[in-house]
Amino acid sequence: MTDRIIPIIRASLPPARDLAAAPEGDLVDRRGRRVRDLRISVTDRCNFRCVYCMPKEVFTDNYAFLPRASLLSFEEIERIARVFVDLGVEKIRITGGEPLLRRHIESLIERLARLPVEITLTTNGSLLAKKARTLKDAGLHRVTVSLDGIEDAAFKRMNDVDYAVGDVLDGIAAAAAVGLAPIKVNCVVKRGANDDQVLPLARHFRHSGHILRFIEYMDVGSSNGWRMDEVLPSAAVVARIGAEFPLAAIDPNYSGEVAERWRYVDGGGEIGVISSVTQAFCSTCTRIRLSTEGLLYTCLFAQSGHDLRALLRRGGGDEALRREFAALWRGRDDRYSEIRSAATPKPGTKKIEMSYIGG
Ligand code: GTP
Ligand code: 5AD
Ligand code: SF4
Ligand code: SF4
Repeated sequence: MTDRIIPIIRASLPPARDLAAAPEGDLVDRRGRRVRDLRISVTDRCNFRCVYCMPKEVFTDNYAFLPRASLLSFEEIERIARVFVDLGVEKIRITGGEPLLRRHIESLIERLARLPVEITLTTNGSLLAKKARTLKDAGLHRVTVSLDGIEDAAFKRMNDVDYAVGDVLDGIAAAAAVGLAPIKVNCVVKRGANDDQVLPLARHFRHSGHILRFIEYMDVGSSNGWRMDEVLPSAAVVARIGAEFPLAAIDPNYSGEVAERWRYVDGGGEIGVISSVTQAFCSTCTRIRLSTEGLLYTCLFAQSGHDLRALLRRGGGDEALRREFAALWRGRDDRYSEIRSAATPKPGTKKIEMSYIGG
């Protein structure tokens, strides 16, 4: 039997709902979406300089990273998270920059782990071997590790700081050993830079129990010089892997999952593809993002955030936070990836960097 490559079909966009039609207490945005997933960036710094995220020419030693005084404290983050959980958030992802660079990150995890939600973290893996045990003990449930190549030369070309693959693999092994699983391994594919790593990565992670996912290179931020012809469509990734190891499509784990799942027909596990460029998933976007300094963004591509730090620091209580956020969410109409070319800001307009807002 040959396995058919099933085209990726996404639910079409629901019509924008009349704000007035949303019943009292039913927190939906203008497109009928709920808030489910809070992503908290805890630092804008990183020890890597991935070419698609923090290119060296821009993120130099003189780059103006956020000063310590402007960062939200762990108490402030916990307060915001608690209110959002009350309003429907079911999953919290800690991101960066590189979140494991934030001092005492495990104390934040300990605080967040008291909330009745899943706590996950996205990391480049460089400090994971050292920190996996403490993170697990603090209450972290899972990790996602970014890894853009399995051969040293290719990986170093992508991280641009001469970082070797072995250390990240040690981090993944340490995370697996303490039960931070299932582990997802994310590879951003930039055509002509690391697309030669698609098959080697697939070969490496088959039968490992980890879920390898390929992400289409996105036009986030203003630094990476993104070009459409550098995007390798997910369909091509699936075709390349499927030609060596037959694949079959599988159902999402939950509605609104960003990754399209495929299983190896021979039982080698599963892979995922995240097609934010060729198959946008805005219609099911339930994410909200909190920056390191307390600005709230309703879209990865938003050009401005909503200042929750100011609200907290002028003494705003939980009720004020709740009201502010509910009003913001009800007015939300974002769908950047679906209208990418029309929505692309004029050249020279500053967009939020991925290292600032988190993946
Ligand atoms: P889990 O299902 O909890 O494992 O996480 P996830 O599927 O939400 O994946 P993750 O948070 O690891 O996101 C993977 C990548 O998908 C990110 O690094 C981004 O590149 C991309 N991504 C995630 N959320 C969005 C989004 O809201 N918009 C766009 N355009 N891309 C996103
Ligand atoms: N396109 C797609 N994914 C990106 N990431 C960072 N920059 C981009 C981009 N331009 C991903 C990283 C990591 C997460 C934090 O975000 O690979 O997995
Ligand atoms: Fe750092 Fe992650 Fe950005 Fe790479 S993708 S520079 S590891 S924040
Ligand atoms: Fe959500 Fe914006 Fe990403 Fe669309 S582009 S999925 S609205 S974050």
